[in-house]
Amino acid sequence: MGRRPRVGRNVGVDRPMRIGTYYYPEQWPREQWERDFDHIASLGLRIVHMAEFAWFDLEPHPGDFQFDWLDQCLEMSRQRNLEVILCTPTAAPPIWLSHEFPRTLPIRANGTPARFGGRRHYNPLSPEFQHATRRIVTAMASHFADHPSVIGWQIDNEYSQFFDQSEFTHHAFRKWLRDKYGDIATLNRAWGNQFWNTYYTDFGQILFPPTRDPQYANPHQHLDASRFWSWAFAQFNRMQTEILKPKIGSRFLTTNFMPLHLDCDPGDMAPDLSLMSWDSYPVTGWEKGATDETYRIADPAAIGLMHDQMASYKNRWAMLEIQLGQTNWSGVPAQLYPGAVRLWLWTAFAHGAEFVTTYRFRQPRFGIELFHQALVLPDGMTHSPGGEQFAQVIEELHRLDLARVPDWKDEPIDSKRTVGLVFDFDQLWNYESMPQAKRWHQGRWWQMWYAALSRLGVRIRVLLPGSDWHADLPLIVAPGLQMADETLIGKMHAYVQSGGNLVLTARTALMDRTGQLWEDQIAGPIIPLIGAAIETYDGLPEAVTGHIQFQKKKYAWNVWGDQLKPEPKTQVLATYADQFYAGAPAITRRKTDRGSVHYFGVYSEQPLIDDFVLSLAKFIGKTRLLPAPLPARVQLLRRGPYRIALNYQDRPVKTPAPAKTKFLLGSSRLAPADLAIWEEPL
Ligand code: GAL
Repeated sequence: MGRRPRVGRNVGVDRPMRIGTYYYPEQWPREQWERDFDHIASLGLRIVHMAEFAWFDLEPHPGDFQFDWLDQCLEMSRQRNLEVILCTPTAAPPIWLSHEFPRTLPIRANGTPARFGGRRHYNPLSPEFQHATRRIVTAMASHFADHPSVIGWQIDNEYSQFFDQSEFTHHAFRKWLRDKYGDIATLNRAWGNQFWNTYYTDFGQILFPPTRDPQYANPHQHLDASRFWSWAFAQFNRMQTEILKPKIGSRFLTTNFMPLHLDCDPGDMAPDLSLMSWDSYPVTGWEKGATDETYRIADPAAIGLMHDQMASYKNRWAMLEIQLGQTNWSGVPAQLYPGAVRLWLWTAFAHGAEFVTTYRFRQPRFGIELFHQALVLPDGMTHSPGGEQFAQVIEELHRLDLARVPDWKDEPIDSKRTVGLVFDFDQLWNYESMPQAKRWHQGRWWQMWYAALSRLGVRIRVLLPGSDWHADLPLIVAPGLQMADETLIGKMHAYVQSGGNLVLTARTALMDRTGQLWEDQIAGPIIPLIGAAIETYDGLPEAVTGHIQFQKKKYAWNVWGDQLKPEPKTQVLATYADQFYAGAPAITRRKTDRGSVHYFGVYSEQPLIDDFVLSLAKFIGKTRLLPAPLPARVQLLRRGPYRIALNYQDRPVKTPAPAKTKFLLGSSRLAPADLAIWEEPL
C-alpha cells in the first residue's frame, strides 16, 4: 500500500469518464476535513458524493435544518475544483422520526415493526414518512440547488424493503388493483380465483402478501404484489424528483440500483430520472466448486449485462459504487485479484459510463462496515490496493484523447457488429411466483447468453419491453420470456419477416401477462414462428446430468429440457443423447424467406450456448461478427476511436488486436485481470 499519491492530473478531464468518491464528512473530525479534501483532489478524483445517510446531521429536530457543515464541505469542494453529487438522505431516517412517528416504520410479516438502529427502516407508503421526506428534500433543494459545484443528485440509496404489512400498504395495494382492474370480477378472472373458490367480492377484502413467494397461495396475486411494490418505490422516488426538478436546472437526477434486485424494476423509475446508475460488488467468495482464481476478478457477463441494461434506459448511465477490496458483508473476505479494480474501471469506460464514483473514500473506524475497504485506510492517508488502482486509472485516462470519445448517446452504432438481447424485468417476478424448476435462474440465463454473445466481439444492445427491434440488427436473442402478449409476439414476427435472425429459448410465451397459461398447446403463440410443437419438457434431479448431442459433441444439461416435434421443413440442430427420450429434438432452426428462428429448448450450461452462438454467427455469415471467437471471459469493446480488450481470466491470453498494433495501454499479451487499448478505425 502506498503512503501518499503523486498528484493526479484528472483536473480538466470533462469527457467521459470522470472518477470520484463517496465521502462522509460527518463521520470524521472537522479538523481533518481540509486534509481529506486535499487528499481527494490530489488523487485526481473529480467528484465528491455527500450527505447520503446524514439526515440527523442535516435535521437534528423536525424542521431544524443545520446545513452549515455541508455548506463548508461544498466550499472546500469548490476551492479544489471538485464536482459534487448531493444525496437526499431518506435511506437513513433519524431517531426523532422513528420514535415520534412509529407509523413510518415498516411492519414485518409477523406484525411487528422494524426497529431503529440501522438504515432503510421506513415504509415508502407511510404518509408521515412522506411528509418528513418532502420537508427535508424541499429544504435541501432550496438551499443547495444553485451551488455551482453540484452536478447532480442521488435520491435515497438502493431502494429495497420487505413487503410491508401496514394498513397504509394494504390500502394502497387495493387502490392500485382497483386502478388496474376496474372491477372485482375482472380481478377475479385475472387472478384465476375460480381455483379453490378464492373469489373476492370487494377490493377491501384483499391483503398485500407478506412475501414474494406465494407458498401455495395465489401466484397471480403475488406477481401483482411484486409489481405494486416496485410501483410504491417509484412513487416515493417521483415525489422527491418532483421537488428537485424545478430547482436544479440541467443537473442530473439518479438513484443507485442493486443489480437485478427484485424490489425495484429500474424501468418504473427511469421516466423520473435523467441518468441511470448501479452499484457493483462482484467479488463475494460465494462461488461453489471454484477451480481457479477467476472468482477474485468477477464475471464479466454479469457486469457487462448490468452496464448495458443501465445504458438501455436513457443512453446515459454511471457507476455509483464499485468494490474496492474486501467487503464486510459477504462472510468470505476474499481478496480481489491484483488489478481487478482497474479492470472494472476500464470496463465501465468501455461500456460508456459517464462517471464512476466509489464507496468510499475512507474506511470507517466504527459501524457495521468497519472491515469494508475504501480508497484509503482509516488514517485517511494510506492507500488501499483499490485506491492505488483508482490513481493509476486516473493517470492512464490521459493517454487517450478523450475529446474524441463521444458521450455514450452519440457513440456511432455499427449495426453489423451489434446484436440485441431482450430484457424484461417483469419476467423475474414471474419466475419468483411460478418457478416450476427451482434451479431455473433467469438472471443467470440472461448472463449466459450475454457471455456467449460477447465472445463474438459485438456490442450488445439490451432491448427493453418498449424498445424497437430494428431490422438492421443481424441477431436478436430473447431468453426465457415466459409471459408474452400480442405486442411481443408481433415484434418477433415483424423482425423475422424483415430478415432478422431470432433466437427463442425454453420457457418462452407459455403464458399471458397475468401469468395464466394459454388455452392452447404449450407455447401456442410461438409454434408458427419456431415451426415446431413443444411436446413436453423434463427437469432432472440435481445429481443427474443429461446430455445434448450438438455438432458431434455432447453437452451437459440439468434444469429444463423441452422435447420438440418439428414440422417437416424445420431443421433439427441438436437432440437429447440419453434418458428414455434419447433422440428427441432439443434445438431447431426454421428458415424463413429472409430470416430465421432458432429455438433453443434446453437450459444448458455455458459450453453449449457458446458453441451454438458461434454456429449462429457462421450461419448468419454476412455480418462482421468476429471471424474467430474471443476466449471466454474476454471482452472486446469500442469507445470512440479506441478498441478496448479486457481479460477476466486468471491466466494470460493473446490480445485480439491486428498484427503490428501500436498499443496505448497493454501489449499483445494480456496478463490476468489486465487490459489493452489501441486505436482502430470503425
Ligand atoms: C451498498 C450500499 C452502501 C454500502 C455498501 C457496502 O450496497 O449502498 O451504502 O453499504 O453496500 O458494500
